[in-house]
Amino acid sequence: MGIVCLTHCRRYRLSTLGSFEGGIVPRMIDTHSHLLPGLDHGCPDIETSVRMARAAAEAGVRTVACTPHFLVWDQALIERAGVVIDEVREALTAAGVEVTLRLGFEVDLTVAASVDIESLGRLAIEGSGGAIVIEVPYSGWLPVMEETIFRLSAAGLTPVLAHPERNDRIQKSSDLLVRCLRAGAVAQGTGGSLSGMFGRVTEKTFFKLIEEGHISLIASDAHSVMTEGWTMGPMLTALEGRVPPEDLVTLTETNPALLLKGERPQPVGPYDGGVSWRGKARLPKRR
Ligand SMILES: [Fe+2]
Repeated sequence: MGIVCLTHCRRYRLSTLGSFEGGIVPRMIDTHSHLLPGLDHGCPDIETSVRMARAAAEAGVRTVACTPHFLVWDQALIERAGVVIDEVREALTAAGVEVTLRLGFEVDLTVAASVDIESLGRLAIEGSGGAIVIEVPYSGWLPVMEETIFRLSAAGLTPVLAHPERNDRIQKSSDLLVRCLRAGAVAQGTGGSLSGMFGRVTEKTFFKLIEEGHISLIASDAHSVMTEGWTMGPMLTALEGRVPPEDLVTLTETNPALLLKGERPQPVGPYDGGVSWRGKARLPKRR
């Protein structure tokens, strides 16, 4: 029997999404968020965490991977994050916000490249069996990136490259990203790139990477810096009519669910004729 997703049904008029094996209900899953308070430059306090989670729930998100920045190896941060996420869970329950939180980290490349695999495994998204979010730098490209992805992947981890569209080298050519995907990474586009705050080149690259068939996941990367309401909802609005609705479901529900249960998601696309990123929306055809 098919599983009905009310949020997407309303927006995209999908009647069912088909059966889904594995026990995870395919509702929207945000695999990158700075919702936990006081651990990085994201959310400042637990009241804001509750407001961010409520906004996410209202947008149709049922699970959020909380991924504070992890810039250097910091054992105290790991332990503190474990305490904070429990505090936020309690606050969400008290507030009646039905969002499941999973702990992870957004790991700096220098950490991923230099720390042993067993330790890195502790930074993977809770319960995923090894999905580890790695922050793609905004400028430049370290040759160690591809080698690091291969090392993690060969050890059974799944490196998730966060916001590749924001990197200035990938903006010129997706070849570097393709090499990382071949080495075992999956690519995660993030919401800020569609908000306009990172400029037209980033926004255009986001659509180009989808068009070329490189993106497997989209996630909010929500901080409370700009707005508490920065959720998956505005992303879907921006993509509506530009990416086939069934592929939006894949990017926001099915693939994140696969990732969280330890399976490797496949990207959507590629598409013929380009994905429109400005002007009149039009649905592309799969190649
Ligand atoms: Fe982030």
